[in-house]
Amino acid sequence: MDTAGILEVRQSFDDAISDVDNLNALQQLKVEYLGKKGKVTGLMKEMKNLSNEERPEYGAKVNEVRTYITEAIERRGEVLEEAALEEKLREETIDVTLPGRTFSLGSPHPLSRTIEDIEDFFLGLGYEIAEGYEVETDYYNFEALNLPKSHPARDMQDTFYISEETLLRTHTSPVQARTMEAQEGRGPVKIICPGKVYRRDSDDATHSHQFTQIEGLVVDRNIRMSDLKGTLELFAKEIFGAEREIRLRPSYFPFTEPSVEVDISCFKCKGAGCNVCKGTGWIEILGAGMVHPNVLEMAGFDPDEYSGFAFGMGPDRIAMLKYGIEDIRHFYTNDLRFINQFKATEDGGATNESI
Ligand code: DAH
Repeated sequence: MDTAGILEVRQSFDDAISDVDNLNALQQLKVEYLGKKGKVTGLMKEMKNLSNEERPEYGAKVNEVRTYITEAIERRGEVLEEAALEEKLREETIDVTLPGRTFSLGSPHPLSRTIEDIEDFFLGLGYEIAEGYEVETDYYNFEALNLPKSHPARDMQDTFYISEETLLRTHTSPVQARTMEAQEGRGPVKIICPGKVYRRDSDDATHSHQFTQIEGLVVDRNIRMSDLKGTLELFAKEIFGAEREIRLRPSYFPFTEPSVEVDISCFKCKGAGCNVCKGTGWIEILGAGMVHPNVLEMAGFDPDEYSGFAFGMGPDRIAMLKYGIEDIRHFYTNDLRFINQFKATEDGGATNESI
């Protein structure tokens, strides 16, 4: 009986397993030796060439080698699995002492916040928000507001013309005319219109060639100057503090008659006189008036049946007053060092309010 083949298989297995350093290679080795076409199975197949007497001993020897190989593979497998687990644990270690990544919270832009506060106030009074166009026609920006082509008051607003008939709107007032026109002569109209406007100004601390305005318009039967005054009084208290009072001074705008300029009592010195109110105790915040009959008529409303009031304010100036900002250009130069001073607070407010 030739048992050299068995020894050879065992020898070659011993050589091979000593090189195996991972579970994949071990699995391959298992197939190579114990699989259906493996070397140990091959040894078994030799049985048929042996005599009946030789078979039991030969079979026992092959079984011995099979057990030897099976156990060796198992032991090796355990060692390799252990090593793999340890490697994985080492790789996935979390250092709980590392500082976390901080989540940085954005800040509301003080101008956007001011516009939103003003919108909230008027929405609460039942106003709707209307929109117009930043590129506007001469007709809506001027003519429909009682400013015909040669009107000297056009010079009050240095205009960026795009062509003879188109321009960058110099105020949000054209939205008045557009909104009324769309109503086809039927009231009520109750809108505010926040938006960007443009003027050919040289930029400095208080002037910007692009800034924002909020227009307001109410048209209905029996609208009176007292309605305008009451509305603006509430507005002043809401935005600048409950003790504020307002003062109306006669003024001139082509689209309103009578026209007024509206001051609030100074929130800083409470009227005594300081640098914010330039010693007068009063701060000018907006222009307003009763809608001129010509404006109503041009937009399709009958001035004998309807009357209305309008106002226009500059949120830039209001935000500058409210937050103590000295240069309008801060709003538009997007310096994070500026914006980050107005961090959001948990109740949705902003810090750094001067009022
Ligand atoms: N449009 C004016 C301006 O830009 C502001 C204004 C004044 C608007 C009086 C109005 C108003 O609606 O009634 O200076």
